[in-house]
Amino acid sequence: MGEGLQSRSTGPRVAAIVPAAGRGERLGGGTPKALRALGGRPMLVRSIEALRRSESVTQIVVAAPPTLVEVVAQLLGRDVRVIAGGAERVDSVRRALRAVDEDVSVVLVHDAARPLTPPSLVDAVVAAVLAGHPAVIPVLGLTDTVKEVGPDGRVIRTPPRDRLRAVQTPQGFRRDVLAAAYALPDTPATDDAGLVEALGVPVTTIPGAQEAFKVTQPPDLILAEALLARMAPGDPRAAADPRGGTDPRGGADVRAGSDVRSLG
Ligand code: CTP
Ligand code: MG
Repeated sequence: MGEGLQSRSTGPRVAAIVPAAGRGERLGGGTPKALRALGGRPMLVRSIEALRRSESVTQIVVAAPPTLVEVVAQLLGRDVRVIAGGAERVDSVRRALRAVDEDVSVVLVHDAARPLTPPSLVDAVVAAVLAGHPAVIPVLGLTDTVKEVGPDGRVIRTPPRDRLRAVQTPQGFRRDVLAAAYALPDTPATDDAGLVEALGVPVTTIPGAQEAFKVTQPPDLILAEALLARMAPGDPRAAADPRGGTDPRGGADVRAGSDVRSLG
């Protein structure tokens, strides 16, 4: 493990920050979401594999649930730096940013909860930043119509759907731009690019990938399992276990104290 990241000794230094410190309340199940199993491997392990298999990432920093830093560090191996996350996602990313190596010029932020992200999407985001775009986000068109609704439940307006996009990760930034965005005091934003927009820096979109969807609610996990089962055996994302072993219990979550647990 780790030869991929270490061997990239030439070219730009690209760090990937992986916020993985959330509780996964909407998914439920009692285990932090990043450690919930998908096809026998924790989602976080799958998300990290996509970054390792990309051609451009040279450092990975994970923000883990504070009580599970050691467990996660053991799980991911020595080429990944694991730090304690914070109360909100922005706090986790801000803390992880401080652990990024000095020589890094491009920073990606990638949710642990997007376990089927193709490595090619990671490289496409990095390539766009290196081509001169200070902030780059992968996006998809919407299938549902979206309405803005007031607190009383009444529709305020219907933005034209053809101008709306759903935003994924990895989002990629010039390091100085992301650092400046995270230095802004109390800026409300639901993604990293939102903070960069508040700086007035242009944000560029590139085509996202359907498989990069975020596992948020129980049906998302079922969809992810189904997609995984249909991936070609040669697809690295279809691997059952990173260390070549097999888990006879199938899906196994990682927990503090007891290392694995069968999915009920
Ligand atoms: N995240 C984090 N630190 C937090 C909250 C979230 O690092 N304090 C991470 C999650 O682990 C996840 C990503 O941010 O990888 C996207 O967040 P989300 O999908 O909302 O995950 P959770 O916060 O875990 O889920 P929920 O909101 O349902 O509790
Ligand atoms: Mg959340």
